[in-house]
Amino acid sequence: MCGIVGYVGKQKAAAIILEGLKRLEYRGYDSAGVCVLQAGKLDVAKKAGRVEVLVKEAARHKFTGTSGIGHTRWATHGGVTDANAHPHVSSDGKLALIHNGVIENYAGMKKFLAGKGYTFKSETDTEALCNLIAYHYAKEPAPKNGGSRFLESVRKALRHVEGTYGIAVLCADCPDEIVAARKASPLVLGVGDQEYILASDAAAIVSRTQNVVYLKDGELVHITPRAFAISTLDQADVSPVVDTITWKVGDADLNGYAHFMEKEIFEQPQALENTMRGRFAEDGSTAQFGGLNLSAAEFRQIDRLLFCACGSAWHACLVAEHLVESFARVPVEVDYASEFRYRNVPLDRNTLCWVISQSGETIDTLAALREAKRKGHRVLAINNVVGSTIAREADGGVYQHVGPEIGVASTKAFTSQLLLGAMIALYIARMRDMSFSDGVQYVQSLKGAPDLVRTVLKQAPKIRKIAKKYAKHADFLFLGRLSLFPVALEGALKLKEISYIHAEGYPTAEMKHGPIALVSEQCPSVFLVPKGDVFNKIVSSMQEIKARKGPIIAVVTAGSEIPPGVADEVIPIPDCHPAVLPIVATIPVQLLSYYIALERGCDVDKPRNLAKSVTVE
Ligand code: M6R
Repeated sequence: MCGIVGYVGKQKAAAIILEGLKRLEYRGYDSAGVCVLQAGKLDVAKKAGRVEVLVKEAARHKFTGTSGIGHTRWATHGGVTDANAHPHVSSDGKLALIHNGVIENYAGMKKFLAGKGYTFKSETDTEALCNLIAYHYAKEPAPKNGGSRFLESVRKALRHVEGTYGIAVLCADCPDEIVAARKASPLVLGVGDQEYILASDAAAIVSRTQNVVYLKDGELVHITPRAFAISTLDQADVSPVVDTITWKVGDADLNGYAHFMEKEIFEQPQALENTMRGRFAEDGSTAQFGGLNLSAAEFRQIDRLLFCACGSAWHACLVAEHLVESFARVPVEVDYASEFRYRNVPLDRNTLCWVISQSGETIDTLAALREAKRKGHRVLAINNVVGSTIAREADGGVYQHVGPEIGVASTKAFTSQLLLGAMIALYIARMRDMSFSDGVQYVQSLKGAPDLVRTVLKQAPKIRKIAKKYAKHADFLFLGRLSLFPVALEGALKLKEISYIHAEGYPTAEMKHGPIALVSEQCPSVFLVPKGDVFNKIVSSMQEIKARKGPIIAVVTAGSEIPPGVADEVIPIPDCHPAVLPIVATIPVQLLSYYIALERGCDVDKPRNLAKSVTVE
């Protein structure tokens, strides 16, 4: 939930670290700091506020050192203050530490260390770990066989930690060295030309190198100017695997858009194409996936699916449930990952579990995956971030291939998850009762989705006008039925996240069982109105809202006629296959939320209290 960066090389470290922090700011943005080792001293600049505040502060320090660490924070322990910002320096001045995660047993550590004379300047859990490393460093005997006292003191301290961490540590006695380690918080090492750059996410690395090593849980890396070495908490050496990042630095830039959210909304046609590429069978009647590690015969044995996720990814699971049950006729259960991990759910032998996570680092989703695996179930994953923890721990899975999603509000990752859910439904359906010709039609419809999304995006100016008209309202309802109920939930979540408007998503017909009490001239309802069996029922629900003077914004499929005077605003979407409908219907609610947030002057990409990737419970 924080971003960390470390640098060892020949360049001035501070500029590279600050640039990396800007790229990681989506992970946390309430305070930031940098520490550079120069002339044997740990020089720290840190401030509450955004990275741009830190940039000004850092300029005053005139950093010249070639090794350093930096951090952008999403507060867990202790308020948003300069003192609580990272890096933290041990009270003996020997060590500086940055941390992403939570040290659960920090209180006991602090008590122990206070008894040994260590002092604390912050309210954070991190400072306890920093002093614990310093304590071990002070006690560590001179190294034998060329070993490192610095590395061994970090290793010893970490053995006492309960909780999660991605850390990077500098030592005043060890110029141009960093020791870093991870447990349940991501850490990637970039291996550049005579330099190493370490970060929570490849976004901070890609401008310097595309060669990376993804650290695993329980691993430490010791970086020196000439080399790096990976080992475990038990002191076993690990042979590094160097991967290549497939995306380039420009992919994580705004490229002329005002916000990442806007860019990512408009990138969706291309993102959907990338998600589908190479994933249809040659006969054009079904989907194919390379990394499931499950044979078709094994797939046929499955008689139940369980999907787990959080936030928008959970909404994508609900759509997948609808499509798998409708087309493949296999029962599906959907659970919040955060509930599943503690619910002790009875699962039978032939249940296949799926977890969905854009980042692949969401701690609740990771814990759900581990819990299902512990019970002996095979778990597959849908992830966007290559090499993420969930992607590595799953038994198999599918990458989304939509490139980096930087905006805190998920957009292109969400529609790509909807697409993959539709493809999984097709894949299983074609193993069961779906005919060849229905399969071909389904595939053709999915292939047409990017163009349909392009059509809807052309309505952005119209949606912007609607947003302007309704931006001052304090409450919204989003109503949808069947596969569009989760899209209603997603619309409400988007609006809440980025414009701080109270919004609720409901199945349309449920509205009269309570939420209708909210309806007034002050509470607009966004109706998702597809053609088909329930069209007339939805129109009746709209009439009920209208009778109570509630303004109505209707997202309506082409060819459906809403009776005059019922909807105040109509946003048409193309009529399409049921597998594509949720994707197409999502675009107007994304645009509406984005433009309402703009009207209200909100910080769209960095909404208050949120961070992109939730790596704490
Ligand atoms: O990275 P994940 O897909 O696991 O993230 C799950 C949620 O935290 C995420 O979808 C969140 O709800 C977004 N901010 C929604 O816009």
